[in-house]
Amino acid sequence: MPSGKRKKVKNRGGEPRTVRVRSTGGNYPAVIGSGSLSRLPLLLKGKRRPSRLHLVSDRNVLRHHGEAIRKQLRRTGIPFSETVLAPGEGSKTMEQMQRILRSAVRSGCDRNSCMIAFGGGVVGDITGYAAASLLRGVEFIQVPASLLAMVDASVGGKTGVNIPEGKNLAGAFHQPRAVIMDLDLLGTLPARQARAGWAEIIKTAAIRDLRLLSLIEREREALLAGSPPLLAKVVERCVRIKAEVVEEDERESGLRMILNFGHTLAHGIEAAQGYGRLLHGEAVAVGMVFAARLGERLGVTREATADRLEALLAAFGLPVHLSKLSCSRILTAMGRDKKRGPRGLRWVFLSRPGEALVRDDVKPAAWQAELKKFIQGK
Ligand code: GLY
Repeated sequence: MPSGKRKKVKNRGGEPRTVRVRSTGGNYPAVIGSGSLSRLPLLLKGKRRPSRLHLVSDRNVLRHHGEAIRKQLRRTGIPFSETVLAPGEGSKTMEQMQRILRSAVRSGCDRNSCMIAFGGGVVGDITGYAAASLLRGVEFIQVPASLLAMVDASVGGKTGVNIPEGKNLAGAFHQPRAVIMDLDLLGTLPARQARAGWAEIIKTAAIRDLRLLSLIEREREALLAGSPPLLAKVVERCVRIKAEVVEEDERESGLRMILNFGHTLAHGIEAAQGYGRLLHGEAVAVGMVFAARLGERLGVTREATADRLEALLAAFGLPVHLSKLSCSRILTAMGRDKKRGPRGLRWVFLSRPGEALVRDDVKPAAWQAELKKFIQGK
């Protein structure tokens, strides 16, 4: 795999590995590997030891891993409180954010408190936003418990909630103090959630790393069977790519936009269907196939790219077509999407597998006609 420019990693056999992510607010570690949850107390020590911790998680994650996280929180010796959310995208609301804030304040959190986001992308996004808002900003640590949250959502400081008008329309950039990716947590992840994580992994490879894409194609069976060393390698590579992109463009004014490959349609689907029917990763899978087909139609994307992407996504059990959703509802939702440039809706295309570009000059008639065909399966 390409080595990139910042490769200071300690490799101690099967030990967790650390990628350092640079941000304007300071650098932070992303610790990747089996058993890395036990590093939590260490990451809370020292001059910046918090006065109090507030854990935010969901019922499913706590059912499987509640004791494991509480054990580590007790090891810190710092008092802690909890807010437990219902699982799923339906919890990513202002109402639930207020619940988190009220419970943190009632528990005695002050400016030196630190929130712990323990769960998938929903928990990470809402907890990060609550941390950005509480007393005008407290620290938080991301402990992602889903594959999708590990490879994408937990790194880079995007936080937020959905509002009825659209996905992630309220939020803030707020970088975590640390990210802990314990691959052991993935053992209890439902198969559908794991597949959704693969959509973001394939996205990361498709936009930036042809060698990673080829590796995923070649090692598909071992990866699907859950080979730990291979999975660790793929997760680490995705985190490095994400770190490189967000370091160059923390606030998404340029390069970072490529991370939204597949998301233009995906957000429209999610808003049109009501959040929670297709999982985010599943909607992104459909959105990537559509963007690749549209790119080919416009002559921006090298031919056969869409077929290659579709075959790989389908091999990982991900949806690659869209049916039974009203086109007009998707179009309305896409009309509200915040990903717009001066000339119109912003699309991320692949020029070829492993390379992406952003365009905001696609005529609405062109993508809308292609979308109608895509929905009708033509
Ligand atoms: N999930 C896309 C980004 O972090 O920019």
